[in-house]
Amino acid sequence: MSFRAPKGTDDILPPVSRTWRRVLRSWDEWAERYGYELIISPLFEATEVFERGVGEDSELVTKQMYTFPDRGGRSLTLRPEGTAGVVRAYLAAGASGILKVAYSGPMFRYEQPQAGRRRQFHQVGVEYLGTAAPLADAEVIELGYRYLQSIGVSDLVVLLNSLGDHVCRPGYLAVLTTYLEERRHLLCDDSLGRLDTNPLRVLDCKVCAPKLEDAPAAVHHLCDPCRAHYADVQELLTAANIPFQEDPRLVRGLDYYTRTAFEYVATGLEAAQNAVGGGGRYDGLAETLGGRPTPGVGLALGIDRIVLAMGDVAEEPPLDLYLVVAGEEWHKQAAALAGDLRRAGLRVDLDPEGRSVRAQFREAGRRARAAAVIGQELEEGKVTVKDLASGGQEVVALEQVAAWLDR
Ligand code: HAM
Repeated sequence: MSFRAPKGTDDILPPVSRTWRRVLRSWDEWAERYGYELIISPLFEATEVFERGVGEDSELVTKQMYTFPDRGGRSLTLRPEGTAGVVRAYLAAGASGILKVAYSGPMFRYEQPQAGRRRQFHQVGVEYLGTAAPLADAEVIELGYRYLQSIGVSDLVVLLNSLGDHVCRPGYLAVLTTYLEERRHLLCDDSLGRLDTNPLRVLDCKVCAPKLEDAPAAVHHLCDPCRAHYADVQELLTAANIPFQEDPRLVRGLDYYTRTAFEYVATGLEAAQNAVGGGGRYDGLAETLGGRPTPGVGLALGIDRIVLAMGDVAEEPPLDLYLVVAGEEWHKQAAALAGDLRRAGLRVDLDPEGRSVRAQFREAGRRARAAAVIGQELEEGKVTVKDLASGGQEVVALEQVAAWLDR
């Protein structure tokens, strides 16, 4: 009997996981540089958090959630995204004022799986809560862009839009609804259903959107404060040297957005999964969840897609040194030496079983940039070290191993 990972989920093993580890570590560093502290919130929430937060008639809620009753009869949902849970946590903690937090973890959406579209996928993201200032929007966009660039995602485009707020949105929706009403014959059944509840969603429908190219865009119906906010965000991005393209057609799949919406597109990937990340402002979300008015802006990046976009990268070997034990009699000393080197900060490993020197060198070649042969020379406090890339080797004193690796 053999089991496979469930449909749409992945086992991520070495050597592919080397790339994952590198990009996830790098994410933590970038988030810290911009002042985001860690938040860990539950993988599941009361279903209502997403129904209300993300939007009852969004595709995410109606078709993609993993919802189940627990043994106590509560309706729970595996988080399909991170923002609603983070805002819920902020409100539950009775927090006020500014909070900048970063997260990293799995999200769950019942999707038709394909490359880069998974049922369990990994997002990293930030939420900048408690300010409506355009600086926060620009900073979030900049962080994502700089991070993606630094880990080697090429052909990156930032798409930017403004969706207006509770003041100008109703006027825009009225114009949009009139436009759509006149084109009912072009709309699919799903879109016809959304016409009354959420006409903006119609523009996000893959079937209908191509037929509605001349639909009115939110950005052309902004009120003065929204227009000023949008202009400030663009000015700040330009000053920060972040290239962006305005895209009045950008409607995101979640209903909580107000004002800024953006997406990072890796143009080298197939269109169906080339959005490697996205985000925006959600000034009404906290109230929708029953809390105090709390503006916020954030982003999430899809690590599965990012690793795909990077293609086959030759990662550095994960170990600094592999100890090749020349004979069983040296094994225990080799283990002790490995411990010493690890305490000194080196990444070191050795064979647990006393396999042949040849097999150990093969393993070293797969996992380390250098090998040290542990044998007779150990009596004099020395080992033979070998650079596995160049093949060069020499005998060095134990205290010199770290310096030799660092040379
Ligand atoms: P989202 O656009 O739904 O936004 O997801 C962000 C990113 O997660 C996408 O651009 C994509 O790279 C990745 N992603 C989404 N679904 C899948 C999937 N099924 N398989 C693989 N990757 C996927 C959000 O989730 C918002 N919470 C972002 C945000 C944060 N807005 C404000 N703050």
